[in-house]
Amino acid sequence: MPSHPHCHWRSAQDWKTLGLEFSSPSDEACKMYDACLTQYVNYHDDTNLGGTDGCISKMFQADPDFLMGHVFKLGTKFQFVHKNYAHAQEVYKMAEMAKKPHVKPWERKHAEAVQYLSEGKIDNACEKWEDILVEYPMDMLSLKFLHDMYIFNGLSRGLRDSCARVLPYWKPDTPFYGNLLGMYAFGLEETYMYSEAEKTARKALAINRYDSWAVHCVAHCKEMTGKVKEGIEFMTATENNWNDTILRCHNYWHWALYYYENGDFESAVGLLDNYIMPHMKSKKTIFNVTDAASLCYRLEAEGYDLGSRWSDCFEIAKEHIEDNVWSYYDICSMLVCLGSNHKEESDRLLTSVKSSIKAGIGDIAKIYSDVTLPIIEAIKAYDDQEYDTAVEIMKPQKYQLYRIGGSRAQNEFLNIFTIHAAARSKLPQNQKYASHLLMEMKCQKESSPLPDRLLQNLIISH
Ligand SMILES: [Fe+2]
Repeated sequence: MPSHPHCHWRSAQDWKTLGLEFSSPSDEACKMYDACLTQYVNYHDDTNLGGTDGCISKMFQADPDFLMGHVFKLGTKFQFVHKNYAHAQEVYKMAEMAKKPHVKPWERKHAEAVQYLSEGKIDNACEKWEDILVEYPMDMLSLKFLHDMYIFNGLSRGLRDSCARVLPYWKPDTPFYGNLLGMYAFGLEETYMYSEAEKTARKALAINRYDSWAVHCVAHCKEMTGKVKEGIEFMTATENNWNDTILRCHNYWHWALYYYENGDFESAVGLLDNYIMPHMKSKKTIFNVTDAASLCYRLEAEGYDLGSRWSDCFEIAKEHIEDNVWSYYDICSMLVCLGSNHKEESDRLLTSVKSSIKAGIGDIAKIYSDVTLPIIEAIKAYDDQEYDTAVEIMKPQKYQLYRIGGSRAQNEFLNIFTIHAAARSKLPQNQKYASHLLMEMKCQKESSPLPDRLLQNLIISH
């Protein structure tokens, strides 16, 4: 990816013209804030700029008390680790800074939002950012934080509507306009408006073909409508535009899903081995484990021998067993523990999830209790070949799955999981349920060979 199209960092006056006045006297700090935000919005740690960490350092060299700098640093840190109390001192410092009289109202609200985020009060944080946008519709940081959190808590209408509300205020020559279109497109896709979504994502790509989030949105549209051949062609044609961004691993996962749906398991494993697993091993983040694990599950459930791949996933996942920060992580970690035959660790994960529910920290405790724990138990039941139990647990969760967060493409493996469990059940009504779920899938994904293949292999073979 070359330098960002927007790289003439905005001065304090430029920001003020947009309606976003900073309390900092430092022009340089404001410019470095722009450099940080640009990398965040574009999912690109630009080595030419010293990366996001390098720009954060320069920002604080220019003004150590730059409140929005602290908001950015902590807000991006807390997004998936809101139980991390190691930063309590930094949050306290930021909150004290925000009380000073010269601080602007939008900056103060940002500090309050990040404080909520640090306590796991995601809904309160989102309210603050939504509130900021009513007065300051050009504030990309609020939009991006909201976008990430609405993915985190599965509120797809929020993804769409938060962007739709501010779009009329933005002009095509405003920096990040293309990014905003890409974000709006993803909200449209997650709310089933596929044709509008793809059109909007392509508008974003016409502005900047390196916009990996807009690429990712087109990938989702192809996936959710079962246009696997078009998906493969699109990812092949655009690969060089996104393969050095933070979304690299996840976009290869989307690409691999098309091969999986096509029944071309070798090509799916090729992407898994050449891109997804190496990225997961080098970055050691649990997010990348979710991509690898949900693909591994899909392949193994259709009889593909994964060899040591589950164990490779386990090496990363084992460090996060007791984090319990996001349902989707824990659900995928359970797949990994059982896939790699670490039953004791799967029990440790279950115990840890129960303790987190009991502790009741943050907004996610109720989601963990209502949805996450039952799903984890269903996965364990499946592993013990108690397929009827797995189906019994999963059936009432069908319309609750969005609550675990993540995109619908990420969530879809749980639908596939239910189909496999129901098809393996000895009860005729469960087998019938599996075929009904496949008919439902076929309505959404007419051109994908997946529903017919599963129907053939799982149901008709009974
Ligand atoms: Fe995705």
